[in-house]
Amino acid sequence: MTVGEFDPHALAPEEFIAQVHSFEFWFQAVDGYLSDRPYGRSQHTVETDFDDASRDRLITTLCNYCVGETAALEGASGMITFAPNRNAKIFLATQVADEARHLEVFVKRLRDLGVTDPDAEIAKRASPDLLAFKARLLELVGNRDWNAAVFAQNVILETMESTVFQSHAKTADPITAQILDGVIKDERRRSELERLRRPPQWCLLKLLIKEPCRPEPEVRFGG
Ligand SMILES: [Fe+2]
Repeated sequence: MTVGEFDPHALAPEEFIAQVHSFEFWFQAVDGYLSDRPYGRSQHTVETDFDDASRDRLITTLCNYCVGETAALEGASGMITFAPNRNAKIFLATQVADEARHLEVFVKRLRDLGVTDPDAEIAKRASPDLLAFKARLLELVGNRDWNAAVFAQNVILETMESTVFQSHAKTADPITAQILDGVIKDERRRSELERLRRPPQWCLLKLLIKEPCRPEPEVRFGG
């Protein structure tokens, strides 16, 4: 995987970890598919003429996407405070930015479809099971249970989202498909990080879950 002129494979393992978890890497990676797509869509794509039932089904689906994205946004941001090392904190900060963007574009799509109060609509249409999952994830985060929170959010939730988005993108209207395409690229970028592992065996998940808390320079936030 090469982002612009930057080739992560050329780096030593420790430098590789620092680089691929950085905002610098994130900026380069997302530039190719964000810069010309306000709210995740091309302004040249024509809106579909939905019938009432199709529009209603799409609104329900998008409302539940918003629940998932909010769970990831709140989960990732909360985990920063107890992530075991600086790389994990910075990586989670890039994930927070991703999840906030995903939530923003889905809410904008709801407004495009005529939803005037997205929060009320999400509350009305959210799946109880998804809400229970979100509550459990945030409970793990609140308990500062790093291993369980990483597994719930970065394995279970991301896998669910990735599977659902890829399936939906195949049949979605053109604008929703474009939005999903951008979100899927974010998901794929995360899995690409994992694919780039090299001996000794390590990957993103192992890094997040098992990397020992090596002594690192103290990170100070704020003043
Ligand atoms: Fe997301």
